[in-house]
Amino acid sequence: MLILGIESSCDDAAAAVIETERPGVAAIRSSVIANQDEIHRRYGGIVPELASRNHVITILPVIEQTLEAAGCGLGDLGGIAVTRGPGLVGSLLVGLMCAKGLAQSLGLAMVGVNHIEGHLLAPLLEHRPVMPFLALVVSGGHTELFVVENFGRYRRLGRTRDDAAGEAFDKVAKLMGLGYPGGRIIDELARRGNRKRVRIPRARVRGAPLDFSFSGVKTAMAALLRTEAGAAAAHEDLAASFQEAVVEMLVGPALCAAREAGLKVIALTGGVAANSRLRERLSEAAAAQGREVIAPSLKYCTDNAAMIAMAGSYRLLRGERDSLGIDAEAALRL
Ligand code: KG4
Ligand code: ZN
Repeated sequence: MLILGIESSCDDAAAAVIETERPGVAAIRSSVIANQDEIHRRYGGIVPELASRNHVITILPVIEQTLEAAGCGLGDLGGIAVTRGPGLVGSLLVGLMCAKGLAQSLGLAMVGVNHIEGHLLAPLLEHRPVMPFLALVVSGGHTELFVVENFGRYRRLGRTRDDAAGEAFDKVAKLMGLGYPGGRIIDELARRGNRKRVRIPRARVRGAPLDFSFSGVKTAMAALLRTEAGAAAAHEDLAASFQEAVVEMLVGPALCAAREAGLKVIALTGGVAANSRLRERLSEAAAAQGREVIAPSLKYCTDNAAMIAMAGSYRLLRGERDSLGIDAEAALRL
């Protein structure tokens, strides 16, 4: 079955075609993403109204491009999977309305997908992890630990109490005047920096070892940048020291969760999973305990539609479909 995935929950408009006959086993025929970084850069963050207006312009060309790259037409599709939340409601609506229009006019089954489920199942696009496995979802909007027990069965073990890790990267990059989005810039600078140059306190949530908190490191960086020593430190060293703190605060709870739940495989997913130091530290620490880390390639870590197609595919393969009456939900829960 060929499945068209559509994703527009935030600032990327994406479409993908996957081919699948069995839940969790799929070939990616194509994946196209229209990135809006250029548009939001001058504001130092995503402007929701601009994001949705641009989705209106790009979503159909993105779908056309992905079909062409997949070498198929609308008539070859067996179903459509579309993100219905969580996310920016205006952005979500563009993809969802587009999916509904296509489903109605082509007589196709359509399923609405939770964006987080997309990130949780993204590792299946390129790996064959045996369930249950642990998933650390780290993005601009989420930092959560889940046990992926089976398709549609996810148990949350931990979550951030305040900022998401990606948000902390982006906000600190903004404080340092590095540009947007900050995660990738900090990652690159940090490669040339001294991780021990400045000491950033690591935060823990008392009584909740599997939860995260990143607002403290952000405030610590803001305070440091106001001091003479902070202002004089090289950007490379500041980036490396900050990144090391965030990475340690992610690795600790993830390993603790894997140990407590007795899981051998840890899947690292979401935009921050692109971070080179996080991949390195988590893999090393997991290997020392006889565990394995799997992570999607960079293009399937950040928002994409192949993961949405994957997350919708097991339901479409079962013959399920959602009513065309489903709505976008900004705070949709898993
Ligand atoms: O999953 P994603 O594309 O969108 C959300 O659902 O949020 O994640 C975007 C986030 C941004 O905060 C961005 O700064 C961060 O992922 N990010 C990174 C890296 N690449 C992207 N953070 C740290 N290191 C990176 N290499
Ligand atoms: Zn995401």
